[in-house]
Amino acid sequence: MTESTHLCATRTAYDTVAVDYARLLSDALESRPLDRALFAAFAEFVQGADAGPVADLGCGPGHLTAHLHSLGLSAFGVDLSPGMVAVAREAYPELRFDEGSMTALDLADGALGGVVSWYSIVHTPPEVLPTVFAEFHRVLAPGGTLLLAFKAGDRLRHLEHAYGHDLSLDVYWQSPDRIAELLGLAGLAVDARLIREPDERERPAQGRQAYFLARKPTAV
Ligand SMILES: C[S@@+](CC[C@H](N)C(=O)[O-])C[C@H]1O[C@@H](n2cnc3c(N)ncnc32)[C@H](O)[C@@H]1O
Repeated sequence: MTESTHLCATRTAYDTVAVDYARLLSDALESRPLDRALFAAFAEFVQGADAGPVADLGCGPGHLTAHLHSLGLSAFGVDLSPGMVAVAREAYPELRFDEGSMTALDLADGALGGVVSWYSIVHTPPEVLPTVFAEFHRVLAPGGTLLLAFKAGDRLRHLEHAYGHDLSLDVYWQSPDRIAELLGLAGLAVDARLIREPDERERPAQGRQAYFLARKPTAV
């Protein structure tokens, strides 16, 4: 699959499910204390470095962008899917949401104090991850922090139905060791990684979930 093919397929799938995805998942953080703890730690790192605003990349319906805002961060969202961006703008009219791709961000070098990519690399083919991580490194200011969430494993599943809709969407489980290696190759230092078991709401087939905190080193 070429890079543009995977972007097209992902965009179309999320345009199809945007409204129902938001209905089903916009309050997900309320029942996930571990997720909230990670966001709180991320906010402290960003505020401590005082390095600029935060982008929620692959923001979906914008609920995590709003949570980042509630933590005192200057946060905005970016998503590939115009349908998702429309849903986010309607739900949170006070916040900024842009269409865009993590593979080629319309952001200046060093513009951000933080990047959140919360389950947004799960549709990125492994061979495209270096491009995405290079973009994260490029747009982060020195000292900026990355918070990354993804499905831990090593497999690809093709979905033809999700969130009550027919669609066509590839989902990738990625090896945490490989992600750590790729982040390092992109110039990002991994400070922490957390691997948790699937909880009672996730089917066991979902497997382990991975969370990384990484940082763009300051110049020596
Ligand atoms: C599983 S959803 C996660 C949404 C949100 N972060 C959350 O946790 O609920 C994946 C989101 O990433 C977006 N996405 C996937 N690939 C992307 C890319 N290359 N650039 C920007 N957004 C992307 C999709 O459109 C979708 O909204």
